[in-house]
Amino acid sequence: MSARTIAPATGRLGVLTPGLGAVASTFIAGVLAARQGLAVPVGSLTQLAHIRLGDRSEGRNPLIREFVPLTSLDDLVFGGWDPISPNALEAARTCGVLEERDIAPVSAELEGVVAMDAVFDQRWVKKLEGRRVKAAATKWDLAMALVADIERFRTEHGCDRLVMVWCGSTEAYQEPSAVHASVAAFEQGMRDNDENISPSQLYAYAALVSGVPFANGAPNLSVDLPCMIELAHQRGVPICGKDFKTGQTFMKTMLAPGLKARMLGLRGWYSTNILGNRDGEVLDDPESFKTKEVSKLGVLDTILQPEVHPELYSEIDHVVRINYYPPRGDNKEGWDNIDIFGWMGYPMQIKVNFLCRDSILAAPIVLDLALFLDLAARAGASGVQEWLSFYFKSPQPASPGLGPEHDLFIQQIKLKNTLREWMGEEPVTHSEAG
Ligand SMILES: NC(=O)c1ccc[n+]([C@@H]2O[C@H](COP(=O)([O-])OP(=O)(O)OC[C@H]3O[C@@H](n4cnc5c(N)ncnc54)[C@H](O)[C@@H]3O)[C@@H](O)[C@H]2O)c1
Repeated sequence: MSARTIAPATGRLGVLTPGLGAVASTFIAGVLAARQGLAVPVGSLTQLAHIRLGDRSEGRNPLIREFVPLTSLDDLVFGGWDPISPNALEAARTCGVLEERDIAPVSAELEGVVAMDAVFDQRWVKKLEGRRVKAAATKWDLAMALVADIERFRTEHGCDRLVMVWCGSTEAYQEPSAVHASVAAFEQGMRDNDENISPSQLYAYAALVSGVPFANGAPNLSVDLPCMIELAHQRGVPICGKDFKTGQTFMKTMLAPGLKARMLGLRGWYSTNILGNRDGEVLDDPESFKTKEVSKLGVLDTILQPEVHPELYSEIDHVVRINYYPPRGDNKEGWDNIDIFGWMGYPMQIKVNFLCRDSILAAPIVLDLALFLDLAARAGASGVQEWLSFYFKSPQPASPGLGPEHDLFIQQIKLKNTLREWMGEEPVTHSEAG
């Protein structure tokens, strides 16, 4: 197998996050701490995972970061936009994810990550009131203001390359409309202030026309639109999304493949959780919650394939609830009740009680997406990067006709085999032969 030509990761990589809230500030603080040797980047494949190469007997098992040319943590610079948080330090202190003893050693650097004024519209995030918001006559002007921000950041920080990861609030639910059908329609729509164009789509547009890869960490529509896919191909830019796969859905996509692997039946899956951070507050609005609910509900059907196994999976009651409960802050608690059945239809139950920390699980995902998207760009990949489905609750398929892949283990194989392929190594099949 011949390797792809991948440009070296020389110089600085700027990581831009629209949204400097809990996830973004925890991500930045963790990278800064890891850089000083104060924390291990737990949860990050790019920093900690190994990859087997060739036959087991060869004993080749390098770190991923030694196998593929990734940007070093020392070469990352951070920037972002936010309508509320003034800088990453304030965001880290307000969201209450990290303790002061972990923030203090990196506080000066965090304070230096100053939020740029946001493109924000309360109609899309009802629970928030933006204070530092760009004003312009049209959405086109707003997109151009973001393009100018991107270029200023690139120059001021001496960046060779940039990537953008949406860490902003979940926007209200919407279906794609005519304005999203093509780049031309979208550009006209921005000039006409079309009401179907959301702020996150303006960031995505600005990133793509600037040649900046874009990942969507929230469940709202942004790069999963025909116009953005067309633009990504036109400009040769990699994109991926959507909705970071962290707490309950992470558990679901681990457990469901196991049940299916053993041909055990499923009758119902009830998931509920309490969460008290700003994300929880935003999701307390029914329109933002609907966006999240749709993203969470899609998972089981694609993993279990009821159409292939009607005797096991055709009658599933799948319910997802999120309850905003301020005393918990970012420390979410999730409960899953899973009704399964086995031999001769006898019922059994599984209970999962996951006391997770959302942003602690999401931060390494932001890091990996930034580094892998940059790798993809240097490898000449453009359009949807399906091999990054591993990180998402609602993975964007490579072509709209194909369904998404939700099974965490298939996603992991796909990610690693893509890296092997790009580096000219054979895929590992785990067959009896090797
Ligand atoms: N934490 C997780 O595990 C997790 C998992 C999946 C998805 N997500 C998604 O990631 C996003 C960030 O989560 P969080 O916990 O950091 O939320 P958060 O509320 O702490 O931070 C979001 C930030 O985005 C800002 N914002 C809102 N609209 C914006 C805009 N138009 N431009 C720029 N900034 C904007 C808000 O002011 C806020 O500071 C949310 O959409 C959330 O649903 C988080």
